[in-house]
Amino acid sequence: MDAIRFERNKLLLLDQRFLPTEVIYLEYSDWRTAANAIKDMVVRGAPAIGAVAAFAIAMAADELKNADATAFFSGMTMAAAGLKSARPTAVNLAWAVERMLKVAKSQVGSSPAQIAGILLMEAKQIAQEDREINKKIGDFGAELIPDNARVLTHCNAGALATVGYGTALGVIRSAVAAGKQVSVYADETRPYLQGSRLTAWELSRENISVTIIADNMAGFLMKQKKIDLVIVGADRIAANGDAANKIGTYSLAVLAAAHQLPFYVAAPFSTFDLTLETGEEIPIEERCETELTHFYGKRIAPEGVGCYNPSFDVTPANYLTAIITEAGVIYCPTRDKLQSFFKEAGYDRR
Ligand code: MRU
Repeated sequence: MDAIRFERNKLLLLDQRFLPTEVIYLEYSDWRTAANAIKDMVVRGAPAIGAVAAFAIAMAADELKNADATAFFSGMTMAAAGLKSARPTAVNLAWAVERMLKVAKSQVGSSPAQIAGILLMEAKQIAQEDREINKKIGDFGAELIPDNARVLTHCNAGALATVGYGTALGVIRSAVAAGKQVSVYADETRPYLQGSRLTAWELSRENISVTIIADNMAGFLMKQKKIDLVIVGADRIAANGDAANKIGTYSLAVLAAAHQLPFYVAAPFSTFDLTLETGEEIPIEERCETELTHFYGKRIAPEGVGCYNPSFDVTPANYLTAIITEAGVIYCPTRDKLQSFFKEAGYDRR
């Protein structure tokens, strides 16, 4: 079940707000409505929103294809800003938009119509690369998963959060494909329930053993020795290895350290933001308070109480056993290790 499809010149998004009870695809051909789909969580997950933003930039170019060059580029700049502001934490969004703009600007002498065609190809390329990258992450990560592993994950870093295969769940998929027995505990992931709604749905459809727990149960399970390792995705990783991910990830990392359990982050290069020295600089999205005060439209908290709803937290690098990327595994990440890893991988941040 693809989260993102591009068919007959239309972007189709699986509406994740209604999973697991309803499987509905919504159609997009305008960048503004695609930006709203990102904002409203029709599509979510760092690599997935990056890919959608790339298609949205291609849609903006198509809309402007009959404009003159000045109007074309000023329209593109406006679309880029609108898309980038849709969600602030996952850097894959800005990364994809910047990559698309760079391609547009490199087409000196081409008409807006020609550039629009090239941008659509680039968006397809970003989507295709994401699948391939996730498979590579999966294969590197699978080496770290012992047979019969009981793995705890948080939020959804699966096929639904990417163009396909997933990052953290991709590692689990690859371990299973390699013949290992893996059973997964999925944190339900309050308040938006990406774990119980999405991760549990995605894994159970593939017959990968999955058990939902409430977020506050993880420590108890670790103490009971029911968990062998934790693996999560990331939304933005700073130059020193500090990693932002769904709220609750930091608590899990602290718990894992207290129980001497490995704690892995699986993420593509597009999730790294080497312009930020530390995780302190990562912008943290705050979402609306009804996510806390209401449940499926019904109020569950008293009227008038204060609410604070940060959607992400930052896990300091010293809590990470390793970061699993498409070019290999960075153990005990530090600024120096990240720097030499990227240098060796010849990573050119496009
Ligand atoms: O708010 P969401 O659902 O977009 O948050 C998603 C996460 O935190 C994921 O773990 C992260 O984006 C990695 S997805 C491969």
